[in-house]
Amino acid sequence: MPHDDAAGRLAVVPGSFDPFTHGHLDVVERVGGLFARVVVAVLHNPSKQGLFDAEERVELIRASLPRELADRVEVRDWADTLLVDVCAQVDADAVVKGLRSGVDLGYERPMALMNRHLQGVETLYLDAAPRWEHVSSTLVKQVAGGGRDVSDLVPGPVASALARRFGTSRPLG
Ligand code: PNS
Repeated sequence: MPHDDAAGRLAVVPGSFDPFTHGHLDVVERVGGLFARVVVAVLHNPSKQGLFDAEERVELIRASLPRELADRVEVRDWADTLLVDVCAQVDADAVVKGLRSGVDLGYERPMALMNRHLQGVETLYLDAAPRWEHVSSTLVKQVAGGGRDVSDLVPGPVASALARRFGTSRPLG
């Protein structure tokens, strides 16, 4: 059910966020500019093998968000929950996803249509910022796993966690 104007509108930004990238951060910041409240929902994607567990992903996202968003953005692990049930529980007005390409749209659209079928929830898309178009969690894991520094692709806490996980050193600064 939509929120009244006084309460402000609430958007859910869902994803597996394994790990959270600068592209994800850009989307959350822009959604924070459009909605009064944002729930970043860390969900399970059955087609993806996880590197970090859900609790670690939540902590890394919280540590990556700018302080000014902290009281309006809730980050939570909903690992065993359907996105539509998250939306029902938090009384969401919309789901928002970032799109890097037409390939992303082809992947997102069936889920958006299913979620609307199940719960009437609308999905809105934000175009990825061109500077982050090539950045995906999958590629970040490959690059970090190959020993390269990824600190210009992901927020600092995530770069440090990847360096620890893969036993590589991360340049300071
Ligand atoms: O970042 P991702 O992996 O592209 O996000 C996909 C995600 C996690 C949002 C999607 O797999 C999802 O919604 N998972 C929760 C389970 C669910 O609701 N499945 C039915 C989708 S129609």
